[in-house]
Amino acid sequence: MTCISVTNLCFNYPGQVEVFNNLNMGITNGEKAGITAPNGSGKSTLFLLLMGLLEPDSGSISLWGRNILSAKDFREARLKTGFLFQDPDDQLFLPTVEEDIAFALLNRGVSREEAITKVDRICETFDIGHLKKRVPFHLSWGQKRLVSLAGVLVTEPELLLLDEPTAGVDDEVIDIILDFLENFRGTVVISSHDKRFLDRLCTSRYTLTNNRLEEC
Ligand SMILES: Nc1ncnc2c1ncn2[C@@H]1O[C@H](COP(=O)(O)OP(=O)(O)O)[C@@H](O)[C@H]1O
Ligand SMILES: [Mg+2]
Repeated sequence: MTCISVTNLCFNYPGQVEVFNNLNMGITNGEKAGITAPNGSGKSTLFLLLMGLLEPDSGSISLWGRNILSAKDFREARLKTGFLFQDPDDQLFLPTVEEDIAFALLNRGVSREEAITKVDRICETFDIGHLKKRVPFHLSWGQKRLVSLAGVLVTEPELLLLDEPTAGVDDEVIDIILDFLENFRGTVVISSHDKRFLDRLCTSRYTLTNNRLEEC
């Protein structure tokens, strides 16, 4: 079954040259897709469109076979989707690490007690328990990356969109991320220039050039 289907998607930023002109894309359930493309080719823009954080000029997006049209449709789809922003500073905004990781859970109506249990468990997985009381803003880049991933994964999403998850991150942290993702059973779309990471994880590879997403 298809997880993501994008048909004839067109998008420009206001006053900019076009980013997408009739982009088509299909990702099946369980696929682990890696997208490698030059800077400025639209990888981050694509993720923002898939999350409904930007609005296409035309074309359609469907997720799990359902056409996503309204803000409400996107809100519902986002409940099953985990999106890692390229820049962790766009992701982290609460005064402590533990509050940040718990945010999406509490937002989904999970009880405080259950949220604490889940936050503790994911912190252990990512070896960031010692950071729980820290201010996210003060962490190192790699620590911020792990904390933002923990916040994305704690809700157990069915679909993960990861925008350059290993950029600026050392090998030890990359291995922690890899260990987790290798056991992840859902669908993953990753934009990355990290060949080792993509080789270990992905079941399919794509390039994004001249408005076309092509399998390679
Ligand atoms: N907020 C924005 N406003 C205007 N132009 C933007 C904005 N964000 C990105 N762009 C432009 O859109 C194009 C695609 O950018 P982006 O999606 O960030 O590419 P990538 O993630 O592949 O590096 C680039 O030409 C970039 O300069
Ligand atoms: Mg980008």
